[in-house]
Amino acid sequence: MKTVGPLFAAISGAVAVTIAEINGDRFISPYNGKAVTGLEGLVTAVTSSGIYLRSTNPDDDVTTSESLYVFGSNTAKQVAVGDIITLDGKVTEYRSAVDYLFLTELSSPTGVTILSSGNEVQPLVIGKDTLSPPTSSFSSLDEGGVYGVPNNASLISVANPKLQPEEYGLDFWESLMGELVTVKGAYGVSRPNQYGDVWIRGDWKVTGENKQGGVTMSDEDANPETIMGDYYGDITGVVYYAFGFYRILPLTHITPLRNSSAEHDPVGFSSTGTCKGLTIADYNAENLAPTSTHLPQVVDQIVNKLRTPDLIFLQEVQDNSGPTNDGVVSANVTLSILTQSIFETSGVRYDFAEVAPEDGMDGGQPGGNIRCAYIYRPDIVELYKPNQGGSLDANEVLDGPALKYNPGRIDPTNAAWDASRKPLVAAWRAVKGAKKPFFTVNVHFTSKGVDQRATQADVTASFIAQILEKDPKAYVIAAGDFNEFVQVQPLRIFTEKSGLTDLDEVAHIATNERYTYLFDMNSQALDHTFVSPAAGCGVQYQHMHLNTWQNYDDQVSDHDPSVAKFHLC
Ligand SMILES: *[C@@H]1O[C@H](CO)[C@@H](O)[C@H](O)[C@H]1NC(C)=O
Ligand SMILES: *[C@@H]1O[C@H](CO)[C@@H](O)[C@H](O)[C@H]1NC(C)=O
Repeated sequence: MKTVGPLFAAISGAVAVTIAEINGDRFISPYNGKAVTGLEGLVTAVTSSGIYLRSTNPDDDVTTSESLYVFGSNTAKQVAVGDIITLDGKVTEYRSAVDYLFLTELSSPTGVTILSSGNEVQPLVIGKDTLSPPTSSFSSLDEGGVYGVPNNASLISVANPKLQPEEYGLDFWESLMGELVTVKGAYGVSRPNQYGDVWIRGDWKVTGENKQGGVTMSDEDANPETIMGDYYGDITGVVYYAFGFYRILPLTHITPLRNSSAEHDPVGFSSTGTCKGLTIADYNAENLAPTSTHLPQVVDQIVNKLRTPDLIFLQEVQDNSGPTNDGVVSANVTLSILTQSIFETSGVRYDFAEVAPEDGMDGGQPGGNIRCAYIYRPDIVELYKPNQGGSLDANEVLDGPALKYNPGRIDPTNAAWDASRKPLVAAWRAVKGAKKPFFTVNVHFTSKGVDQRATQADVTASFIAQILEKDPKAYVIAAGDFNEFVQVQPLRIFTEKSGLTDLDEVAHIATNERYTYLFDMNSQALDHTFVSPAAGCGVQYQHMHLNTWQNYDDQVSDHDPSVAKFHLC
């Protein structure tokens, strides 16, 4: 056994410390860059590139992790789980990219001495042997919001705040860094992503739980629903950080003990074929081009899950040459192939309505010229006073009300739409039973700046307000990919100014079932339908979670479609 005395420490400049002292009570180690000596701990896990060490001299401070990752493949070969060892090394803060947080580790380990072997190694059960994870905020840097720091987590390493593991999620996981833990009763809140990572929650308190067992992001809390998600049982592994996230590296391969069904029932209602029961769907079909390999699956979903709605708002329809940048802007081939395939699959005939954009002016995948478009069943709905608009024609609300261009785009030269899709407005009438038209506004707001989305919301809402000014009882339905949460300012502007209401509210959709998109662990609502007072009467509505609960490779689109049934006469 090696002895470490003050003389040695003085000569080498190395200091004798505990693991808790190395980790400290902040994100960055107070010993960063310093050599340490005589560090003692129990080996809790061994990987090919290093070992995880738990302190044999713990303190009683919940903010200072009692475990540490030791980076070194030679050390990994020298020791075994259950050994109590001492070693020397250099405290290092490591990250593989500038946008990530740092992982505190001991690098260049030397002088590994095994004091004893075969010691018992018990994982800490999260929520029992540790605090429970906090449920709402990531970091004190968010200052009460939930949208700040996750956009640039590296700011945390600069501010290096004192850890508050009872309050903030990132602080909680940081306070367990390097620790061997068990998650009891783990459920997947999503299917594995493209890297095979799966987000889980344990048997601790969660908020926003939805029927599939995922967690829906919202302002409000609701009562937990029945759990149906993928059930993994207990997972034991070490807490670490890589590729931008705190992670648990399981000690054994994990597979779900029980899978939620990847099969989804079709929408629970169907069209009456008259103005008393029109079905209208909204779907961001993700860069749909004539040659898209996912086009047949989009067709399958429209036919078998959405039950061939009378009218479909589509976003991300690409031009006839798809992402080839060749000046082609029309999507008539894309839409013809889609509607022809629906016909061949179901015998249901659709027509389409679109306004081609100016080449390269609407953002999205280069060359693709994505746009909003409609497909509709001409036996059930027809364009009301059709008058095809051009790419630069600004639509107007005429007396009636009616539209100058049908279909037509809203204020296409307004700077609000720079490098972004222009909303496509149309007026329709049910072939059977209707006296009045109904109006639809198909949007795909920009995914980039909040300010631009706010202006887009304002311009779109002003147009809709003009329809309702001419007829407060007009039927207006605005739907699409708003790229925004309803509770956030751009959409608050939108509802206040337009006079429309969120259909989730009107149809009393449970708060935690309001989602159409999965971002990391969060089920989120980016796609919405808004309705005028007259259009909301007796409505039925369903978000179809066909894509958010698929394995990554089985997703047809990155968004879920939604279907509603309206009484528009
Ligand atoms: C994130 O924050 C870091 C640290 O302040 C800064 O250097 C970096 O430019 C930021 N990155 C982005 C994408 O804003
Ligand atoms: C698409 O539009 C072009 C130009 O109007 C026309 O020549 C062509 O026949 C159309 N194709 C389909 C499939 O509708």
